[in-house]
Amino acid sequence: MQSDTLHFERQDEKGIITLNRPDVLNALNNQFFTDLTGILDALEKDPVRIIIITGSGKAFAAGADIAEMAGMTRVQAREFSRHGQSVFQRLEDWEYPVIAAVNGYALGGGCELCMACDIRIASAVAKFGQPEAKLGLIPGFGATQRLVQHVGFGNALYMLTSGRNISAEEAQRMGLVQEITEPDQLMERAHKFAGEILTSGPEAVKKVKLVIRKSASSSLPAGYELESNQFGALFEEEGTEGMKAFLEKRKPAW
Ligand code: HXC
Repeated sequence: MQSDTLHFERQDEKGIITLNRPDVLNALNNQFFTDLTGILDALEKDPVRIIIITGSGKAFAAGADIAEMAGMTRVQAREFSRHGQSVFQRLEDWEYPVIAAVNGYALGGGCELCMACDIRIASAVAKFGQPEAKLGLIPGFGATQRLVQHVGFGNALYMLTSGRNISAEEAQRMGLVQEITEPDQLMERAHKFAGEILTSGPEAVKKVKLVIRKSASSSLPAGYELESNQFGALFEEEGTEGMKAFLEKRKPAW
């Protein structure tokens, strides 16, 4: 599937989304959000078990499209923010894991996109940042919420007030990035990790994401309750096969 802003390809149980406006460093415009919504709609009808998102050219995404934003009124800007927030929330809520393979600049909205993914694997040349304050703006696609969850208040304000870009290594130290690879091995590494996830129980993977994501915005007792319920449910689902396979010294047949 090809659109003006995205390329989508299925590879067995994986779906690979490539941001495809390299001339403007994959800047995120309204069309991008419409196109991403179209892909998520299609995947809802015909799911894959993992999504990998990456960028073409030298950027993952260098932020929201400044040329498009510059002409917006206050009301249009608020709508653009809300639209982006809701599409990224939908990505975060996607039932299976989403991996960001961050090939280059992940700035502003681009950093917000990778934070809406579950796992970030970065090229050693990737740069992360929220430079909105340099434009006299603040983030609008969720960074004020998600960046704090990823790196804590101090690091979030360090990045958000200065607008400073940080290296992949610094991002990993802060907890934003899970793995760093050589640039030419990025996609291979992302596929390898996706393959590791695919050998886990599909229901267990879905449930652990659900519990973690839902618990982030609920109380501790509610989180524990959800955990126990989902743990118990697996004893009527694939958990029985997983444990049986272990005891019989064979691979589980999911
Ligand atoms: C529109 C962009 C863009 C962007 C780059 N381009 N980023 N166009 N929106 N966010 C365009 C440039 O204008 C240029 O077009 C082309 O892409 C290549 O970029 P260069 O600047 O020439 O490349 P380089 O010198 O390598 O510098 C890379 C860069 C720089 C450091 C990433 O492009 C940059 O600072 N970009 C802006 C980053 C940013 O401020 N992002 C936050 C946006 S606000 P031409 O036509 O000249 O070739 C945001 C808010 C989100 O994300 C929330 C909204 C609700």
